[in-house]
Amino acid sequence: MGQDAAGRVEELRDRIRYHEHRYYVLDAPEIGDAEYDALMRELLSLEAAHPELASPDSPAVRVGGAPRDGFVTVRHSAAMLSLDNALNDGELREFDRRVRDLLGHSDYRYVAELKLDGLSLAVRFRGGSLVQAITRGDGETGEDVTSNARTIRSLPLRVADGPPEFEVRGEVLMGNRAFAKLNAEREAQGLPRYANPRNSAAGSLRVLDPATTAARQLDFYAYLLLVNGEPLLDSHWASLDRLAEMGFRVDPSRAACAGLEDLQAFIERWSAGRDSLAYEIDGVVAKIDSLAQQRRLGWTAKAPRWAIAFKYPPRQAETLLENIEVQVGRTGALTPVAHLRPVAVSGVTVSRASLHNEDEIERLGLAIGDTVVIERSGDVIPKVVRVKEHGDARRRFRMPAQCPVCQEPVTRAEGESASRCINPDCPARLKETVRYFASRGVMDIDGMGEALVSQLVDAGMVKSVADIYELKAETLAPLERMGEKSARRIVEGIEASRKQPLPRVLNGLGIPFVGERTAKLLADSFGSLDAIVGASADELQRADEVGPKVSGSIRAYFDNPRNQRLVERLREAGLRFTHDAPKREGGPLKGMTLVVTGTLPTLGRDEAKALIEAAGGKASESVSKKTSYVVAGEAAGSKLEKARTLGIPVIDEAKLRELAADA
Ligand code: IVH
Repeated sequence: MGQDAAGRVEELRDRIRYHEHRYYVLDAPEIGDAEYDALMRELLSLEAAHPELASPDSPAVRVGGAPRDGFVTVRHSAAMLSLDNALNDGELREFDRRVRDLLGHSDYRYVAELKLDGLSLAVRFRGGSLVQAITRGDGETGEDVTSNARTIRSLPLRVADGPPEFEVRGEVLMGNRAFAKLNAEREAQGLPRYANPRNSAAGSLRVLDPATTAARQLDFYAYLLLVNGEPLLDSHWASLDRLAEMGFRVDPSRAACAGLEDLQAFIERWSAGRDSLAYEIDGVVAKIDSLAQQRRLGWTAKAPRWAIAFKYPPRQAETLLENIEVQVGRTGALTPVAHLRPVAVSGVTVSRASLHNEDEIERLGLAIGDTVVIERSGDVIPKVVRVKEHGDARRRFRMPAQCPVCQEPVTRAEGESASRCINPDCPARLKETVRYFASRGVMDIDGMGEALVSQLVDAGMVKSVADIYELKAETLAPLERMGEKSARRIVEGIEASRKQPLPRVLNGLGIPFVGERTAKLLADSFGSLDAIVGASADELQRADEVGPKVSGSIRAYFDNPRNQRLVERLREAGLRFTHDAPKREGGPLKGMTLVVTGTLPTLGRDEAKALIEAAGGKASESVSKKTSYVVAGEAAGSKLEKARTLGIPVIDEAKLRELAADA
């Protein structure tokens, strides 16, 4: 049976790989979704039954593996630099002139590609398999996002006829349809919308749970093929063809241009054509085709001299500012929103725009009745860029002195741009808080959406999130659009939510600056809500990514007696207040506890911790008899001494790397 299973698994993997390439890269599927799903399901169940057959380049990893705690930083094979921009035709001519002068002749061609608006990713292959994917980061080092990148369907996990080791660089993006779908879902769940596909692609690639990335439908377009940090072929055009042959998605609009005129025509053509694309572009990238010429032109400190990014101007329109209304958010911040006479901007009808705050309105010199210029630069929410013409009967906007919802006084703190309603009982704030608490990804209470929350708050049945846990089916049933069955379902949902893990509870409290990621890092670092509540601002900063702003906000929240009462009531309701940092399945440091002390030669403190955790070990702050190793760097002090007293082995960074890499 073992042999059969292995054979069948290989066969399924090959077939799925073939169909994924047809579907995701070539856009020419041969089978329907149902048939594909059936193949994938069979593979998943076989792999589950035979864990010994697992393989990191199996298409089964597309559904996302185990979540992780953080990302490890990795050095790039060659710096990932950015491109110089040309903002208009004059700057483009200037670039072309410089190329000609530096080469001393005009015998060169350009390759023009669309400038995809996503984030760049470096993907390494060894022996034909994808082994590592790294974000751009600061250009020198990036984050290892391999598990997440493996879920991108248009990124091959295995390549048949490439060099033994190579790297592909390209752009990760989210298509307009996937983006619209994601935002609609987020809206329905009461989560904030992503501003544009670029942000959502970046956000989706950097989540800790690969299953989330898998659900987000990202795409990868390749634009560079490197071996040892150097281009493999001597023509960029040939490289792109080679990448396509190897199974990567490559910009289908790419064009070889004999010179500046051809390039200008390409730019012109896509300026008009960009709205017909399935994804956002923000310009055109032109590269000198010949690698020999690229080498002669070389690089500046920032960017290659052989390439330029021509940026399209943002898409603008003019319309009338009909009114400015004020919205009250979860933290009480009052946001002025422009109500516009509906106008089409590149195929999208725009009727609203955020004005952010009073200062922004002041800066723009804006009054109701003015004609304004609005702009969409890939963002869903357009912005007002300037006043085009004053209206005849223009009316100045004043931030109301009272909250438009609860009528309590509004304050604006020294040095803050936001005016806030500070009434904790303000129904607008309360509704937003409760809706967020109950939403998917937080406490996940099925059926408790905007309409129900609104009714519950208006009826005085919910005055804080703790009241949710006292709701009964009998009291819910008489509500509008409810009935006994739905009421029972909601109470079941409330019941189930008591088991949500601590990071979600913490996120659900709505502490300013503490979202999903920070909540998880805090819970991992402190292990219980009581430890977090009891920690000083300084101690809180021990958690990854928590600085003075976040720790101050957490302290202010828990110092408020009202929030202390809330915490007690949530404890009584039986919510989870403790948290086990996720255990790893395996890894070379499994079961070991390591303490890092002093300054290591290359790894920062957080990087060393991440390395230990990624290898399955536990990174601890204090040395005890249970410590397996102390990793000591320069100026190590009392911890090193203690290790010596207790006879704990002391190692250096090099040894740590060796241990962590040992498979
Ligand atoms: S080539 C050294 N080609 O634009 C050459 N970049 O502003 C590196 N981008 O960081 C980049 N589409 O993320 C190249 N066809 C394309 C691109 C592209 C989008 C992005 C890339 C880069 C940024 C530079």
